[in-house]
Amino acid sequence: RAGYELVVVANRLPVDVTVDEEGGTSWKRSPGGLVTALQPVMQQADGAWVGWAGKPDLEHEPFDADGMHLVPVALSAEEIAQYYEGFSNDTLWPLCHDVISPPEFHRTWWEAYRRVNRRFAEAAAGQAAQGATVWVQDYQLQLVPAMLRSMRPDLRIGYFHHIPFPPLEIFSQLPWRRQVIEGLLGADLIGFQRPGDASNFIRVVRRLTDLTTRGSMVSVPTEHGHRGVRAAAFPISIDSSKFDALARTEAVKARAREIRHDLGDPKVLLLGVDRLDYTKGIRHRIKAFGELLEDKRLEVPEAALVQVASPSRENVEAYQQLREEVEILVGRINGEHGQIGSAAIYYMHHSYPPEEMAALYLAADVMLVTALRDGMNLVAKEFVAACTDDTGVLVLSEFAGAADELSGALLINPHDIEGMKDAIERAVRMDPREVRRRMRKLRRRVIEDDVTKWSQRFLSTLTAVPDQPSPPP
Ligand code: G6P
Repeated sequence: RAGYELVVVANRLPVDVTVDEEGGTSWKRSPGGLVTALQPVMQQADGAWVGWAGKPDLEHEPFDADGMHLVPVALSAEEIAQYYEGFSNDTLWPLCHDVISPPEFHRTWWEAYRRVNRRFAEAAAGQAAQGATVWVQDYQLQLVPAMLRSMRPDLRIGYFHHIPFPPLEIFSQLPWRRQVIEGLLGADLIGFQRPGDASNFIRVVRRLTDLTTRGSMVSVPTEHGHRGVRAAAFPISIDSSKFDALARTEAVKARAREIRHDLGDPKVLLLGVDRLDYTKGIRHRIKAFGELLEDKRLEVPEAALVQVASPSRENVEAYQQLREEVEILVGRINGEHGQIGSAAIYYMHHSYPPEEMAALYLAADVMLVTALRDGMNLVAKEFVAACTDDTGVLVLSEFAGAADELSGALLINPHDIEGMKDAIERAVRMDPREVRRRMRKLRRRVIEDDVTKWSQRFLSTLTAVPDQPSPPP
């Protein structure tokens, strides 16, 4: 059987399509941590990537771009509303992020989720060579592993969950919890960001199914005996050397100086970079910054906050509401503390190419990552990789997966506004020797544990899972 030895299946392709007035198509990098992490892996692997191109009803033949073979899956406008905006981002996303926004449960959304998951499974089955490895990505596609196994029992199937896996008490709210567990257990290896996510999953399996578990292994009955499924943590990373190299180019260094100059050369430049998502703690961070100005512990124009909030999931109500709240808050603080020629907060509702991001990271003195819950948070790692001059302090939420690895950061609880204010002030006033010592430690870790290591660890563990079904335990 001809086909690819490695097939990645993700909701999104690494590129989004734009269709111009004459019907011509062009492609632009798509948002989010998943694409950031997987693109360099796939460029090396000569594999196929199955995913959605980000627009409704786009039927497009598979094509090659940037050293990858891309296989678009078409979704109708209704499927986007029900499978993507609905079940994925208004049911599963809040459920997996501590129900920060209440999840909605709708049977029509679930039906669409099942239908669309089947389409992705079929597309992957059509691309994979005999005995190939298929690597399914993230919460939008949790039914794909089992669907794919029933279509193609010859495949080795891995699944990686990029976002938190919720505790039993929250996961149990999902009316289709059994089907989701069964969907995931179609994989040979299920990867999570943090050990706590993997143990939440094992606990869910133990309590909601009759299956036997031993440590991180689940034993699943098959026609001939049993099959072992392993659940373990594989903390994801970034293409660290790319960011490091980018930040060393003359163009990026010059742009970083220009950014500081255009901001009126503030003494301290604070930076936030997020998708505009309620999990990121953007309001909490801005509130803390506003109070520091209020208390005169920071002052304009010596201090400025640049907040990049890239547009995300704009048809989902919770995101529209968040945007309103953030923009009102920014307006209020700027009205109160801004001066002619120098704002307190520079708020940008845009996304930027990696060169501009590297310049912002390099220009910043203090990076604020204050997520209320986050699978990993790759922005924290990008900041570290771009801090080639060893200056820069990372203030990092303990509720982001990155907190497990990034000792050297100032860890905070974003719900504790006073604690966060103290940490921001400490970061701003930190002795340069301590700044350097902490940043060097962070950089060693991020440069060492890059995304290539992550994918090698996952794929070699997947290959090590025995081919033959094992006898019952
Ligand atoms: C997170 C998720 C990804 C998702 C990305 C962007 O990183 O883990 O699966 O692709 O956000 O969100 P979007 O809904 O625009 O794909």
